[in-house]
Amino acid sequence: MTTNHLHPRNAANGESALLTTPFGPRASAGEVIDGVDLTGRRAVVTGGASGIGAATVRALAVAGAEVTIATRRPESAEPLVRELATVGGAGRVHTEALDLSDPASAVAFAREWRGPLDILVANAGIMALPTRTLTAGGWEAQFATNHLGHFALATGLRTAMADSGSARIVVVSSGAHRDVPFDFEDPHFARRPYDPWVAYGQSKTAGVLFTVGARRWEADGITANALNPGYILTRLQRHLDDDTMRSFGVMDDAGNLTPLPYYKTPEQGAATSVLLAASPLVEDITGRYFEDNQEAPTVRDDDDQPGGVGAHALAQEAADRLWEYSTEALRGA
Ligand SMILES: NC(=O)c1ccc[n+]([C@@H]2O[C@H](COP(=O)([O-])OP(=O)(O)OC[C@H]3O[C@@H](n4cnc5c(N)ncnc54)[C@H](OP(=O)(O)O)[C@@H]3O)[C@@H](O)[C@H]2O)c1
Repeated sequence: MTTNHLHPRNAANGESALLTTPFGPRASAGEVIDGVDLTGRRAVVTGGASGIGAATVRALAVAGAEVTIATRRPESAEPLVRELATVGGAGRVHTEALDLSDPASAVAFAREWRGPLDILVANAGIMALPTRTLTAGGWEAQFATNHLGHFALATGLRTAMADSGSARIVVVSSGAHRDVPFDFEDPHFARRPYDPWVAYGQSKTAGVLFTVGARRWEADGITANALNPGYILTRLQRHLDDDTMRSFGVMDDAGNLTPLPYYKTPEQGAATSVLLAASPLVEDITGRYFEDNQEAPTVRDDDDQPGGVGAHALAQEAADRLWEYSTEALRGA
């Protein structure tokens, strides 16, 4: 077994030691699992047809894993499936329909799953819908898609993951969670004014809280960790108008995308997902938050230092409360 690299830099503050790896922010998804053989391992990647998800699928399949791309538009995954079918030694890649905004779809996906599941990457997401949008179930769309759909999927697949004996859940969160505690009084913005970034941030806080709550599955050999992939220009920004993109400095006057120097490629953005999904360096680690291939320090909500994980997102009490809330919301789905 490979030894985890635990660095005691926060131990003086009473925090548990942070896990470090040799990989920097620019490492690619392929590099972080170079030499790892995933033959015989089975993975599901939600939203695996585009962006960070596609790069995640590619790295896991090239390492030998059988990968199911869970997508609401199966036809969009066909080019990636065809590409990976030509790579010698790659695991089989196929697609299954999944619409995370519809809990019945997540439940059906899990019900039809056969055999053990070793890796679940909760990657799909939507960001900053300009107006308050509700799903058919009456839930705010980002919370429903980014958290509730994945919660339904993971709980439905729990037995399959327990059958693996060493399953890993990876939740793709975002730095946007930092300033947004989960609002249990009004998660769907029924009474407070809707804000696209607060709604997105709240959904990403929910994702981190899910990994904390999932410590209850440790006895089944299931671990769950969350991550911030960094900044990557993908289809995720499609709800942002050109003025917003210009204000972020990532679009010029002619409408061309102009990534800032610290922006990553999808392959770099997928590295932390793939590290958590498959590297021996994080074996048995659970309930933690990573960015740039390292465990991130916990920051107070009033701390303006960039990066890190907000204390509100790691709070056990909030995690347990959200678990109950999500279970109740999905009852009957
Ligand atoms: N890009 C960044 O800078 C950044 C930063 C922080 C966090 N993230 C997170 O990284 C993850 C991947 O995003 P990305 O940047 O790679 O963007 P992306 O290319 O838009 O990928 C998101 C994926 O989610 C899928 N999806 C959306 N709604 C869905 C639904 N209802 N059911 C099933 N799948 C659905 C999308 O499918 P369709 O093609 O059908 O829409 C798409 O494949 C997201 O969770 C995002 O929040 C990204």
